[in-house]
Amino acid sequence: MEGSINILSLSLLLILSLAQGGLTNPNCAKFHQDNKDSSTLQVIHVDSPCSPLKQQNAHSLSWVDSVLQMQNKDTNRLLFLASLVAGRSFVPIASGRQILQTPTYIVRAKIGTPPQTLLVALDNSNDFSWFPCGGCVGCSSNVLSYDKSTTFSNVSCERASCSLVPKRDCDAATCTFNLTYGGSSVGGTLSSETLALATDPIPEFLFGCVKKISGSNTPPQGLLGLGRGSLSFISQSESLYKSTFSYCLPSYKSPNFSGTLRLGPKGQPQRIKTTPLLRNPRRSSFYYVNLVAVKVGKRIVDIPPSAFAFNSNTGAGTIIDSGTVFTRLVEPAYTAVRNEFRRRMGRNTTVTSLGGFDTCYTVPITIPTITLMFAGMNVTLPQDNFLIKSSSSSTTCLAMAASPADPVNSVLNVIASWQQQNHRILFDVPNSRVGVARETCS
Ligand SMILES: *[C@@H]1O[C@H](CO)[C@@H](O)[C@H](O)[C@H]1NC(C)=O
Ligand SMILES: *[C@@H]1O[C@H](CO)[C@@H](O)[C@H](O)[C@H]1NC(C)=O
Ligand SMILES: *[C@@H]1O[C@H](CO)[C@@H](O)[C@H](O)[C@H]1NC(C)=O
Ligand SMILES: *[C@@H]1O[C@H](CO)[C@@H](O)[C@H](O)[C@H]1NC(C)=O
Ligand SMILES: *[C@@H]1O[C@H](CO)[C@@H](O)[C@H](O)[C@H]1NC(C)=O
Repeated sequence: MEGSINILSLSLLLILSLAQGGLTNPNCAKFHQDNKDSSTLQVIHVDSPCSPLKQQNAHSLSWVDSVLQMQNKDTNRLLFLASLVAGRSFVPIASGRQILQTPTYIVRAKIGTPPQTLLVALDNSNDFSWFPCGGCVGCSSNVLSYDKSTTFSNVSCERASCSLVPKRDCDAATCTFNLTYGGSSVGGTLSSETLALATDPIPEFLFGCVKKISGSNTPPQGLLGLGRGSLSFISQSESLYKSTFSYCLPSYKSPNFSGTLRLGPKGQPQRIKTTPLLRNPRRSSFYYVNLVAVKVGKRIVDIPPSAFAFNSNTGAGTIIDSGTVFTRLVEPAYTAVRNEFRRRMGRNTTVTSLGGFDTCYTVPITIPTITLMFAGMNVTLPQDNFLIKSSSSSTTCLAMAASPADPVNSVLNVIASWQQQNHRILFDVPNSRVGVARETCS
């Protein structure tokens, strides 16, 4: 009896997942199920087999092409981060082929009353959340039908929160915004709605109700701002989740996606290595940490301390970002790490390059680990977190690069998602700390 009920519910889940994404992987049902856990929800890669948002060609691309595409995405991402560091608003220019700059991991969010489901991208370096709304010009996917919700309202210009939105315009009584993201222009109204990620609803959540997008390089069903500034999800849900969250990002090709986003102090790892979280009032969205050194194998690389120094005026320092794929170190630091890597591989071993990766080999890599040394915390990365391997050829590259040479980006070190996969990263704002622990989630 019990067995048949289980089979029945399993097939219902299968039908549900097939209906929602044309998917055949039974593991995917988990992602499309309603969340039962009060604080933990599934995270998947936007190109995972379980993702209805995956690019049509994502799995027909050769390995080399997909790497190049990811690097191109990163280039745009870094320009976007730079625009935040500099406080300038310049539009990142997409180079070459059609390039998508979107944060790479998505979660299922329920918005409105009765709830509507959107698959929103996580972005922990961004505060403002925005979702495509009914009537949107240029939006490509599901939208929030706000006319079907009893809890939707526009925010008036008088509300203090209106002053926080990018490029606000108060010609009408409604607060409107206009921003650039991934080279696209995104505009709409500042609105308020009930939002639930896990089970608990957050009433009157402020977000951008998108009415117009020009350009196609935006997350199709919107963005969840997990930055630490005042408009972010983290700040708006503070009474519920105490500005504390963690995630474990699954590997980008994994069909098994037990990656999770866990909200609130409950259920967070108690025994976890931590490093102080630094605050830059001028760049209030970013999670800055103090990276002090890098070890290649057992050897600490000789890097000038200035390469990692935190400076709130210039924005220099190190951030932990979920939206960049490959870690970037400022030029002197990257060069020193790469040179040590090459020295360890042997001077007679031929080094090749691939796209923006300049340290690639066709022989097995003999370096077992790279350690990121933060203040009070050493994170030793296994090969999966610092190498990118071709599935078709025998090429393996060091999966890091130098920060771009432009004056703004050249001071920012970005610890990116490739280096975070299969680790739990804890952001604990009240205790001003970031924790890292190895966790297999894909
Ligand atoms: C919100 O404001 C927009 C733009 O002014 C308007 O088109 C829309 O009808 C408003 N929606 C509600 C529910 O008031
Ligand atoms: C946003 O700004 C751009 C460029 O200034 C403009 O073309 C676009 O129409 C604006 N969008 C909205 C929704 O105001
Ligand atoms: C996926 O998970 C199933 C069981 O949960 C396991 O048997 C399988 O080996 C996993 N596949 C991969 C590629 O990890
Ligand atoms: C490297 O190559 C040079 C020239 O081919 C050779 O003389 C030298 O012994 C090699 N060194 C090692 C460590 O194999
Ligand atoms: C990190 O590693 C360095 C060098 O191996 C060591 O001196 C230091 O004590 C370690 N720090 C922590 C917090 O374990």
